[in-house]
Amino acid sequence: MKIGVLTGGGDCPGLNPAIRAVVQRAVSLGDEVVGILNGWAGLIEVQSRPLTAADVADILNVGGTMLGTSRTNPANQAKFPNGLQTVKGNIEKLGLDALIAIGGDDTLGVANKLYQLGVKTVGISKTMDNDINGADYCIGFETAVEIVTEALDRLHTTARSHGRVMVCEVMGREAGWVATMGGLAGSADYIIIPEVPTSMEKITTHLKQRRASGKGYSIVVVGEAATIEGMSALEVKTRDAFGHERLDKRGLGEALAEEIEQQTGFETRATVLGHIQRGGSPSAFDRVLGTRLGVTAVDLVHQGNFGKLPVLHNGHITIMELAEAVAKNQKVDMDLYHTAEVFFT
Ligand code: F6P
Repeated sequence: MKIGVLTGGGDCPGLNPAIRAVVQRAVSLGDEVVGILNGWAGLIEVQSRPLTAADVADILNVGGTMLGTSRTNPANQAKFPNGLQTVKGNIEKLGLDALIAIGGDDTLGVANKLYQLGVKTVGISKTMDNDINGADYCIGFETAVEIVTEALDRLHTTARSHGRVMVCEVMGREAGWVATMGGLAGSADYIIIPEVPTSMEKITTHLKQRRASGKGYSIVVVGEAATIEGMSALEVKTRDAFGHERLDKRGLGEALAEEIEQQTGFETRATVLGHIQRGGSPSAFDRVLGTRLGVTAVDLVHQGNFGKLPVLHNGHITIMELAEAVAKNQKVDMDLYHTAEVFFT
């Protein structure tokens, strides 16, 4: 068989282990693998390269994606009239028997649309946001949590030295997984996520209570997409190719730090972790997860089991419909959030 593989959407650590696993498994079954460059852009205007076992031999510990990525949406009629048909035609021109698309909800949504048009697609879920429906862990999430944890450890020592409130803004477009898990692991004193409504009053009351009880500093973790009652609305400045607000331009962390300082009189600083959360080497967990999903994706191709994706669910790799995976975003498990809340004292 001739199998294409691409990575789309935001990069994250763990993509290369998945690519390596796809190639290694496919080659061991006698297949040929074609790497599609720069996500769906590489199938709008064909950009590809052959991938051999030698090409992927040394990428297990390397962050990012050796194939490049982009937020290209071939289903956007205004930008790409008949974009999905163009992609389908180029898959045929390349002689691909199947396509493995590694990405988050946007990339997997396009893979599902192509599947409905008769293209033999299989998905792999990656997103440090961890919001793919049905997946306990997506590639990139665990590494991001490690990075947030280390950052919070570092923020603690400087916060303590200066007696400050430190606001740390973390990624998460639709859900507060990174904020909740990172905040829990990094001992946050308040975690603000889109799923849990909160207000400036609640936040400042809590910070004042902490100060009154002798705790000289506080760490507040805020997910970039959260809304906070009582804070002036933040303007939508720009959107990406899939129509999502560019949350890095929203400036929630900075704005929140300013409000806290004004309303409490406590010296406050903001740190925005941004793309640092998506850089560097994958954790051992993401290396293993990427490898398991990559191997299983090739097995699905060989079984002729298309329109599906393997996900880690209840500790096992299980097979899901692409349509179900992209039907909604998976929100934070409230048990997890309530556990973190126990420490908001
Ligand atoms: O979708 C994953 C994500 O990391 C979001 O958490 C974040 O808002 C967005 O990507 C940033 O995207 P970009 O890399 O295009 O700036």
